[in-house]
Amino acid sequence: MFNMTKSLIIHGGAGAWRISALVERAIEAIRKCTEQAWRVLSEHNNSLDAVIEAVVCMENSGYFNAGYGSTLNLLGERELDAGLMTSTGLLGAVAAVKSTRNPILLARIIAEKTPHILVAGENADKLALLYNLPPLPPPPQHVVERYRDVLKKLVREEITDSYYKSLSSLIRGGVFFKLINDILNVYDTVGAVAVDDNSVLATATSTGGVLLKLPGRVGDTPIPGAGFYADKNIACSATGIGEYIIRTMPCLRLSLEYEKQNDAEKALNSVVDYVNRTAGSNTMGFISVDKTGKILYAYNTEAMLISYVYRGEVKVFLKPEPRVNVITLS
Ligand code: GLY
Repeated sequence: MFNMTKSLIIHGGAGAWRISALVERAIEAIRKCTEQAWRVLSEHNNSLDAVIEAVVCMENSGYFNAGYGSTLNLLGERELDAGLMTSTGLLGAVAAVKSTRNPILLARIIAEKTPHILVAGENADKLALLYNLPPLPPPPQHVVERYRDVLKKLVREEITDSYYKSLSSLIRGGVFFKLINDILNVYDTVGAVAVDDNSVLATATSTGGVLLKLPGRVGDTPIPGAGFYADKNIACSATGIGEYIIRTMPCLRLSLEYEKQNDAEKALNSVVDYVNRTAGSNTMGFISVDKTGKILYAYNTEAMLISYVYRGEVKVFLKPEPRVNVITLS
C-alpha cells in the first residue's frame, strides 16, 4: 500500500523526570533531535536513517539515559543496550557494551554486516572498534553525582521501591557493600519510530539500563518484541523497567493486536489493559507509528518525554495528555 504520510515520534524515556535543570536541557535536546530526524526523513525518505539520527543525537546529548548520558550500574560502570528493526526485515541489537558511544550504530552494523541478531559484551565493543565507531567518553558530572546520591540511599535503606528490595538485601549481605531513594527520579532509555513514504516502518532504541543494576544485567532494550519491534503494520519502542517490559512484551503485543483488530486505537487499548493488569502501574511506556502514519503512545509512569512532528511543527511533551493516545496527522 502506498503511504503518503511520513511520520515520526521519539521518546527520551518514561519515569518521573523531577530534576528540573536536567528536564529543561532534555526538552531542548529532544526538540533538536526531532528536528534533525525529521529533516532526514523529509530529505531522504528513509525511516531507518531517521530513527538512527534521532537516537544518535540523544545518545550524544548527555541528558538522556543512553550513550554518553547513561546511568551507572552497581559498580559505577556503564553497560549499554540497543536494538533496531524495520518492516523490511532488518534486525540487530547489542547488549552490555562498555566502551562504545553509540550502541545504536553498532546495532545497525550487527543487522547489516553480520548474520547475527544480538551480540553482547566486550566482543561487541571490539567489533565497534573494527568499524571505527567513536569511544564512550567518561560520564558527565551529573550522572556520577546522581549515582553516588542514590547509592548512599540504597545502602542506608532509604529506597522503598519494590524493584530495589532484593538489591538492597544483596548489598547488606556483604557482597557489594564495600563497593559501594530517589528511585522515583529515574528516567529511562531513548527511542524513535518512523514510517516513510515507501511504507517502510523503522524503530531504534538505546539505553544505559536501570540505575544500580547488577553488572551483567540486560534489560528489554536489545530484546525484539520487548524493547522494540517493527513489522508491516507498526513500529514500536518501549521504555521503563526492563524486567516488566520483557514479561509483558508490549511491542510484540501491539503488532499482534494490530494484525488481529486492524485498528490502531483498539490495538493500543488492548496492550495498555494487558500491561496495567499484568505489570501494574509505574512500570513502562511506549511509542509507535502505524503503516498509515498514525502516532501512538501510552505510559503509566509519572512522565514520559516525547516529541513528534505535527503538521510541520515539532511538539514536545513531558507529561502528554491523554496518557494513552492515537494521533492522526492528516
Ligand atoms: N528499559 C531499559 C531497561 O530496563 O534496561
